Amino acid sequence: MQLDFSALDARTAYQWMISTILPRPIAWVSTISADGKTNLAPFSFFQGITANPPTLMFVPVNNRQGVKKDTVRNIEAVPEFVVNLVSHELGEQMNRTAALLPYGDSEFEKFGIVSAPSTKVRPPRVAAAPVAFECTLDRIVHIGEGPLAANVVFGRIHAAHISDAILGADGRPDARKLDLIGRLGGEDYATTREIFTIERPD
Ligand SMILES: Cc1cc2nc3c(=O)[nH]c(=O)nc-3n(C[C@H](O)[C@H](O)[C@H](O)COP(=O)(O)O)c2cc1C
Repeated sequence: MQLDFSALDARTAYQWMISTILPRPIAWVSTISADGKTNLAPFSFFQGITANPPTLMFVPVNNRQGVKKDTVRNIEAVPEFVVNLVSHELGEQMNRTAALLPYGDSEFEKFGIVSAPSTKVRPPRVAAAPVAFECTLDRIVHIGEGPLAANVVFGRIHAAHISDAILGADGRPDARKLDLIGRLGGEDYATTREIFTIERPD
């Protein structure tokens, strides 16, 4: 089959994209409002993009009413955030934080997710996350308008918290110990438990 994306409405295009571009890593993003209320939400349009300078991006799209999500509102007010990574054992908790809560209600409090203070930014991190990147906002690039339009958030990484438990004998992260999950289409997820190696050509 062939799809003409120019003839698809945004919702249908979105469904095709998220069920084909996979697996997607998950940024579990903590932010804080101007009056100090914390927020936590997952985003799987997420990648690291360069180490010079260390930068990542994730994409909160507008909701179906065309309104910015709480994460974007907070970052526009306080341009700092933490990207927590999601291990298999944190999957259920992560999913709960995708719930629609009124602006200002904290997913940390509502779902009993234990936070830990960050060192360089104001939003706290998820204490149990195997890796957490403390970031300041580099820029937000808006793509499209209205429902599902993108607010691409670029963040400069200033610090990372890496759990000692995920390090291998060589002192580097061991993907088997990290045990991250990725998002597939719909409500499906993948583990990173089956790993294989392909040698790079010279
Ligand atoms: C695994 C997972 C990945 C998600 N990825 C995205 C995403 O990339 N972009 C997005 O806008 N929403 C995504 N969502 C939905 C948001 O998490 C959800 O809209 C959330 O309520 C936003 O929270 P906020 O309003 O507190 O920012 C995802 C949800 C889940 C469970």
